[in-house]
Amino acid sequence: MQASQFHWSELDKYYTYSRRTLSADSAWRYGPERVFVVAKEGYDAISKHASMYNKRYCDLGCGTFHPFGVSAVMLLNGAQSTISLDLEHSDHTRAAEALYDLLSECIVFPEKWNWSGKSVDEFIEGVRQFNLEALKQGKLVEGISHLPMGYIVTDIHSPQIQPESVDIMTSRAVLEHFLNFELAVKRLYSIMAPGGISFHSIDLVDHRAYESKDFHYWSFLSEDEGWSDGVCNRLRSKEIRPLLEQAGFEILSYVEKSSDMPEGFINQVSPHFLKEMTPQELCVIVVECVLKKAE
Ligand SMILES: C[S@@+](CC[C@H](N)C(=O)[O-])C[C@H]1O[C@@H](n2cnc3c(N)ncnc32)[C@H](O)[C@@H]1O
Repeated sequence: MQASQFHWSELDKYYTYSRRTLSADSAWRYGPERVFVVAKEGYDAISKHASMYNKRYCDLGCGTFHPFGVSAVMLLNGAQSTISLDLEHSDHTRAAEALYDLLSECIVFPEKWNWSGKSVDEFIEGVRQFNLEALKQGKLVEGISHLPMGYIVTDIHSPQIQPESVDIMTSRAVLEHFLNFELAVKRLYSIMAPGGISFHSIDLVDHRAYESKDFHYWSFLSEDEGWSDGVCNRLRSKEIRPLLEQAGFEILSYVEKSSDMPEGFINQVSPHFLKEMTPQELCVIVVECVLKKAE
């Protein structure tokens, strides 16, 4: 990718500090590349149904590594204000440094990050609204204090956030962690403003497979009915859809992605799953849905 405004020799000024300090830390979680994937998929999915322009945006389950990353990109692409929301607190110094690094990338590669039809100059002007020098020094409050960016640490099962205060919400790899899914999605519904649109990418795999080769994506389906690892709700796509509808959401889009279970594993799946669902339905490992709250 070519930088439109900067010769490569100028990039050092932006990257020398941030890349040296951040890339040495695995908790940085791939920095701008991760933010790009998460923000772009949410922005594109929402854009089919609503404009980001002048909307109150919420990054649900923003994570602890880079809590302001996706929100900053949505702000640069037209959101009126943003809220980064998560159950866990983050390290503010790291959050500021990661944001500085992301904004550096936005200045260097504006075409990559400017999606809302602004001119490049206007987009870069938006980046310059952040206090880049403060962020570089790890000073989060100073870095964003004059911008409409909020940060709320709360459990979505009993959220400390104004009802009907969000016009657009996106999340990735978050809803599978709601241990009382039915209650949590009712809360999501109450947070959304009338007419509000949300996009959720839900990761249905057994998360133990990310840590250990002893497990695969469906291992937890062989555990009995009362089983819980306290991390994932283990709900299948076929169970999720009606719960979203019962909460009040209109489903604008519901995409399922499947993969093949290991051969013979279907014989180990707990009977209560097989009673309700076909093997094909149990093979779904990702749901991507766009939801609307009635006007
Ligand atoms: C797998 S991480 C995903 C982080 C980020 N969305 C990403 O894709 O990099 C899931 C996040 O959801 C948050 N989360 C889980 N349950 C939650 C709840 N009940 N309320 C608010 N946040 C929650 C976790 O704290 C965690 O940061």
